[in-house]
Amino acid sequence: MPRTPLIAGNWKMYLNRAEAVRLAAAVAAASQGLTDREVMIAPPFTALNAVAEAVRGTAVKVAGQNVGWEKEGAFTGEVSPPMLLDAGAEMVIIGHSERRQVFGEDNAMISLRLRAALQHGLAPILCVGETLTEREAGSTFTVVEEQLAQGLADVTAAQMGKTVIAYEPVWAIGTGKTASKEQAQEVHAFIRAVLSRFYEKTLAGRVRILYGGSVKAENVDSLMAQPDIDGVLVGGASLNAKAFERIIHFT
Ligand code: PGA
Repeated sequence: MPRTPLIAGNWKMYLNRAEAVRLAAAVAAASQGLTDREVMIAPPFTALNAVAEAVRGTAVKVAGQNVGWEKEGAFTGEVSPPMLLDAGAEMVIIGHSERRQVFGEDNAMISLRLRAALQHGLAPILCVGETLTEREAGSTFTVVEEQLAQGLADVTAAQMGKTVIAYEPVWAIGTGKTASKEQAQEVHAFIRAVLSRFYEKTLAGRVRILYGGSVKAENVDSLMAQPDIDGVLVGGASLNAKAFERIIHFT
């Protein structure tokens, strides 16, 4: 079964509401009429609702950049799944390496977030990836498998069908140092093999695995030509309307 490519923009902690709405409108215009691929943008929480309103009625999907695991309560700084849905999000990024590295989120916490998202009907993008030290130590596969095993703990097959995985080597994020298409493909194939141990092979074959880490207009085509790369998660270049338009229109 063919996998519909997903081009996702992660705006991180950038853009005020007016800037976000302007960029969202440009992304919607650039995505018009494209039926063979999906486009998603993840604005900061403060712009989520404004962006969702701006792209309403278009094919562009809106995502949160993280999500709390309780419905409500005394959890200062967290945003719950129902709150994300209420703001207009359909998807959510979980376990981004900046959450793991800068804010100390571990696999157990990420698993809680992922299951909460799924329980409330948000489609999660689970991010995995090794640091440079881990790659150089030869532990890329071990680290990625552990992140998948713990992150996907108790995720049912039906839920897995709605889950997207993003492979983002930490050393490639925001560094301008993209993984080569061979390096990326190797890990993507490994991730799919791990998924087919956890789930049925046909299901593993349907899961979209995105690559993230310095994706640009210049390298998107060769990455997307790899058999197990089903989309990209773009940081820096997604903030530039022209660059992201070119990425959306990968060939
Ligand atoms: P980058 O970020 O494209 O700026 O490297 C990717 C990401 O963090 O998702």
